[in-house]
Amino acid sequence: MPIFSSYESIVSDTFESERFIRICPLYGIIKSIGVKRRMEAIILAGGFGTRLRPLTYSRAKSLLPIMNKPMISYLIDMLPKEVDKVVLAVNYRKKQIEEFFESYDCGKEVIVNDEPKPLGTGGAVKFAEQHITDRFFVMNSDIICSLDLDEMIRFHETHHSKSTISLWPVENVSEFGVVEIKDDGNITRFVEKPRPEDAPSNLINAGAYLLEPFVFDYIKTGELISMEKQIFPQIIRDTNRFYGYHFKGYWMDIGRISSYLQVHEFLLKRRKQNNLIGENCKNHGDLKNSTLGNNVVIGKGSSVESSIIFDNAIIEEQVHLDHCVIGEQGVVGPRSKLTYSVVGDFETIPPESISENQPIWTQPIPEGYPKKQIGNVIGE
Ligand code: GTP
Repeated sequence: MPIFSSYESIVSDTFESERFIRICPLYGIIKSIGVKRRMEAIILAGGFGTRLRPLTYSRAKSLLPIMNKPMISYLIDMLPKEVDKVVLAVNYRKKQIEEFFESYDCGKEVIVNDEPKPLGTGGAVKFAEQHITDRFFVMNSDIICSLDLDEMIRFHETHHSKSTISLWPVENVSEFGVVEIKDDGNITRFVEKPRPEDAPSNLINAGAYLLEPFVFDYIKTGELISMEKQIFPQIIRDTNRFYGYHFKGYWMDIGRISSYLQVHEFLLKRRKQNNLIGENCKNHGDLKNSTLGNNVVIGKGSSVESSIIFDNAIIEEQVHLDHCVIGEQGVVGPRSKLTYSVVGDFETIPPESISENQPIWTQPIPEGYPKKQIGNVIGE
């Protein structure tokens, strides 16, 4: 794996150790001329993604394509230059993630850190401790947003924060854990699913954290622990320097099929594109607000609206798809009509099928895949 190394990172290795900071009077000068501190990032990519089944029966949620690029690559692209090491906290479908990074050079050292069992967001962070040497980011792998992590670092530093989390405003506070926050961004507590009239704010955890290594001392090794529910409240209580960084722009958590479809509609609009069509596609039908992967065939007389079609799928003639996802190598038989339906990878839909609001999966469910959600929903 290529290792990103630069003058900045070598200098910061030497100059930014805690001890050096204490003893070197030149530190302030070095800092003021812009030498940045070397950093690491943990990307949480070990969830089963149960709410996105059947797509996640056959692939890691973080590899689901968003506008034909794996979701996780958007996160990697967001990371600031001084982040030179990325620890991928994985468990389910680890091999797929490893294979992806073998052929994708992101310019940073990548460590695939395989958990022996799902440890939750907190347990996964603790399990990555051995790879972390200094201040670090933790990012959920299922967010698409305009968060500027350089700005977040500046916010963290100017507020002398011990832990900073990104915040996003929502309308439906009663579905989330919202923060109680002072004007300067100091978070005093989380309030779970408040009634709108009792909500201390409309800001929720947006899934990106900037943390200092002392945080590891709060997490027990090898246990299923939620960072948001179990660890953050303790840090707030003990340090009183837990801050929220409220950013502007856009933020989407790709937790459900509806948000998976929405993020495509949003990005198409943002890029002022009617459709996104991959390589070697043969389209003989009508496309509207849709994304086609590579080598997709759309037959004559078919219409595809607000849908996502993965690589190598075949949509036969006179098919109507509306708000659907068709998995890789999926085949939709002629004269079928599918609305708000999700066809898993390698599935074949017989001719003249009608489906509304259905996940379609006929293959065996992978061993160990949970029957219901075990992760913690973002913001909750
Ligand atoms: P659902 O089953 O649909 O809730 O999805 P999920 O399993 O991805 O859970 P959730 O959306 O709450 O997860 C938020 C982020 O944390 C995602 O990026 C997950 O990949 C990650 N995550 C959740 N649980 C674990 C875990 O046990 N280990 C690791 N490494 N990551 C996790």
